[in-house]
Order: sequence, then structure tokens, then C-alpha cells
Amino acid sequence: MISAPSTTRRGPHPLLLWLLSSIGKKTIVALTGIALVLFVTGHLFGNFTLFLGPDWLNSYALHLQGLGPLLWVIRLGLLGVVGLHILFTMLLWKENQAARPKKYIASDPIQTTVFARTMRLSGLCVLAFIVFHLAHFTLCVVDPSFKNLHTTLDGQPVHDVYRMVVLGFSNVPVSLLYIGGLFLLTLHLSHGIGSLFQTLGITNRSTRPTIELVTKAYAWLLFLGYISIPISVLTGIVK
Ligand code: HEM
Repeated sequence: MISAPSTTRRGPHPLLLWLLSSIGKKTIVALTGIALVLFVTGHLFGNFTLFLGPDWLNSYALHLQGLGPLLWVIRLGLLGVVGLHILFTMLLWKENQAARPKKYIASDPIQTTVFARTMRLSGLCVLAFIVFHLAHFTLCVVDPSFKNLHTTLDGQPVHDVYRMVVLGFSNVPVSLLYIGGLFLLTLHLSHGIGSLFQTLGITNRSTRPTIELVTKAYAWLLFLGYISIPISVLTGIVK
């Protein structure tokens, strides 16, 4: 009599299988995309305190710094989300390439928009913009004198983030670079937000046009909000 083998061979964990499936990868891109859109929205509201005056923006920045170790947890979380968003986009791209070894002569340009076709390129430009932005305002390596800008808030010495932002955007090429970076971010979001709704199954034939319109309008509203900051500095509205 033949007895059954004592060890059973286990296959890959179902979660891993799901992550490696097309829908799993798309879901990760969509969920990390939502987290990044939420960050970009929250960051804009934080930056709007600039229009209320120096004490408001400096106090907002001070509160963020006051989070201490929690701020580092948020920063690392954000970095992880950006990393996963890029990694799973690359995996999806590789999968698509493998499924379509031959280039079609004329297919995509008719079916899709310029925003959809330039997602990877606009994404890479946004990444370069964020690296520059962190070097500019967080690490202060673009202009090291930004580190030495101090003021007082309720009698306490604090980093003068307000003056740093005003000085930063008084430089015309830097402001133009920001406006260009924000424009590319908007191209990325105007297609990206709509497609993440589709991935998560929220869009159907009848709701698709409305959802596309609303998500595009939202992306352009973010653009107007963000560029209002360098433009207000350049035009002297914020001094
Ligand atoms: C006009 C546009 C923007 C302004 C004025 C602005 C302003 C700032 C300032 C002042 C800081 C440093 C805060 C501090 O050190 O206390 C900062 C940090 C940061 N910004 Fe922006 N920002 C803008 C656009 C963006 C955009 C579009 C993104 C993302 C796509 C972004 C992502 C970040 C990140 C990730 C940090 C680092 C947060 C941290 O870990 O402390 N910013 N921003």
C-alpha cells in the first residue's frame, strides 16, 4: 500500500499571488495614489496659512516640527507610499510590455489622451520636482542661508518658514521651475485620479464622464491653489 507523503507542498501565500496579479498591482497603485492625493491636498491647505500672515505659517511649521518622532513616522510612511506607487507602476509597465512585444503602428493615440500616454514621463518629472523641492525648503541645500532665517513666535525663537518661502519665490527662475513642476503634477493627477476610481470599480459607463470631469477639475483646482503662492510672491501680494 502506498502511503500519502507526510509533507504537503505549500504554494505561495494568496496575498502574494494577489499582489502579483494585474488587479493586485493596479489596486496598490490606486491606493497609494489616493494617499498621495490626500497629502497634496492637506499640504496645500497648510501652505495657504501663508496668506494669513507670517505667524500663521511659522506656527503651522512649528506644530509639524513639534510632532517629533511621529513626524519621522509620517515622513517614512510617505516615502514608503511613494516607493510602492513607483515600484508597482514599473511592475505593471513590465507586465504590459511582456504582453505586447510588438509595437502597434497606430493604436493608442486614437484611444487615449496625451495625459494617459505620458503618465510615466510626468511621474518621473514630478519625482524630480519633489527632490528639488525637498532640497530647497526642507534640507535648505539650494540656498543654505535659508537655514539661518529665524524669528520669534510668542517670544520663542523659531525657523522663519514664511521668509524662506517669500525669499525662495522672489527668485524668478525658481518660481517658474515650481510652476512647471506643478503643471506636470497636474497632468499626472488629471488622468491619475480618474483612473484610480476606475481601478477601484467606482466608475461605470454612466458615471464615467461625470467622474472624469470632477477629477480633472479637482486636479486643476489644486494647480491654481499651488501656483497662487509663487504668483502672489512675484506680484508682491505676499511680501
Ligand atoms: C507652491 C507650492 C509649494 C510650497 C510653497 C510648499 C512649501 C513647503 C515648505 C515650506 C516645506 C517645508 C516645511 C518645513 O520644513 O517646515 C515643504 C515640505 C514638503 N513639501 Fe511642499 N510646498 C509646495 C508644493 C509641494 C508639492 C506639490 C508637493 C508634493 C507633490 C510637496 C511635498 C512636500 C514634502 C514631501 C515636504 C516634506 C515634508 C516634511 O517631511 O517635512 N510640496 N513644502
